[in-house]
Amino acid sequence: MEISILQRKLKREKARRQKAEKLLEDKSRELYLSYQTLQKSHEQLDTALKEVKSQQRQLVQSEKVASLGTMSAGVAHEINNPLAFIFSNVNSLSYAIDQFSEYHKHVVGLVSEQSTEIREQRLRALGKYIADVDLEFLFKDCEDLLVETTDGVERVKAIVAGLQAFARSDAGGTESVDIIECLTNTLKLANNQIKFSMKVQEDYSEVPRVRGFPGKLSQVFLNLIVNASHATENGVLKIATRDLGDVVSISFTDNGCGMTEETLNSVFTPFSTTKPVGKGTGLGLSISHGIVAELNGEITVTSEVGVGTCFTIMLAGEVCAKQAA
Ligand SMILES: Nc1ncnc2c1ncn2[C@@H]1O[C@H](COP(=O)(O)OP(=O)(O)OP(=O)(O)O)[C@@H](O)[C@H]1O
Ligand SMILES: [Mg+2]
Repeated sequence: MEISILQRKLKREKARRQKAEKLLEDKSRELYLSYQTLQKSHEQLDTALKEVKSQQRQLVQSEKVASLGTMSAGVAHEINNPLAFIFSNVNSLSYAIDQFSEYHKHVVGLVSEQSTEIREQRLRALGKYIADVDLEFLFKDCEDLLVETTDGVERVKAIVAGLQAFARSDAGGTESVDIIECLTNTLKLANNQIKFSMKVQEDYSEVPRVRGFPGKLSQVFLNLIVNASHATENGVLKIATRDLGDVVSISFTDNGCGMTEETLNSVFTPFSTTKPVGKGTGLGLSISHGIVAELNGEITVTSEVGVGTCFTIMLAGEVCAKQAA
């Protein structure tokens, strides 16, 4: 009798255990399946993230190419101007060299002549030649032409350096950037595009170098400069750099039309523009924001309709950025 009770108990116990084991097995399977789904989603998310990052890179690049397109006519003009006077100066210098070589012939003819009579004749001819050609003026003119030509060559060199800095892909990671040099190079590129709408006041205080991407920073500065020129008519853009201890501040203050609250609120949102088709895509500031954020920096804006706008960029000075890394 007791044995049969015990056997029943054992049977019940076994059935319970089997049920629990089955439940455990089901749950494990469920867990495994969930894990697999989760892993798949993770992989999909990873691929999506990579795609977004690559699209972002392409967007930065295409905005850069678009800016280059708008700039190229202006840059060509900026290069053509000095080239035109360099060309004309070289022609004048070539004329001067002909005259100096003629003068040289006169002098050689004079000093190698033995006959006093002919020497007298040659001396008179030389005097007349010097007076006709105005050699003194020619000498002075050559000095001026050389100074002007060197200046023109320097201008072309600076514009080409700016273009090189702007067009670089920055694929190799951050570099030590001289912010003031980057600003002046960018201004040279923008000059033709902005010179009829505003003056630029450069108010640079010495600032530490910054770890960043020179090409991308030039792209940010160019967009802020061109935006200010679109917002002003005979206005002024003040660009200032300040060393604030841990950070470098770069501000762009214009006295243009300013922004309404609505424009101001969406200023860093992609495709938000008040410009007509063909004049703006509304990507400049969102891309600029991304570039500054990539360097752990900050870009902020204040604006008042009819008064003007001020964009400020804060970036860690190189020493601080290195310490933080
Ligand atoms: N300095 C400024 N003064 C007044 N409004 C400005 C200024 N800077 C930007 N804005 C406003 O912010 C908008 C967005 O600027 P953003 O640079 O992102 O795009 P965009 O200049 O319109 O086009 P793009 O992609 O060619 O730069 C501009 O359309 C303009 O309305
Ligand atoms: Mg813009």
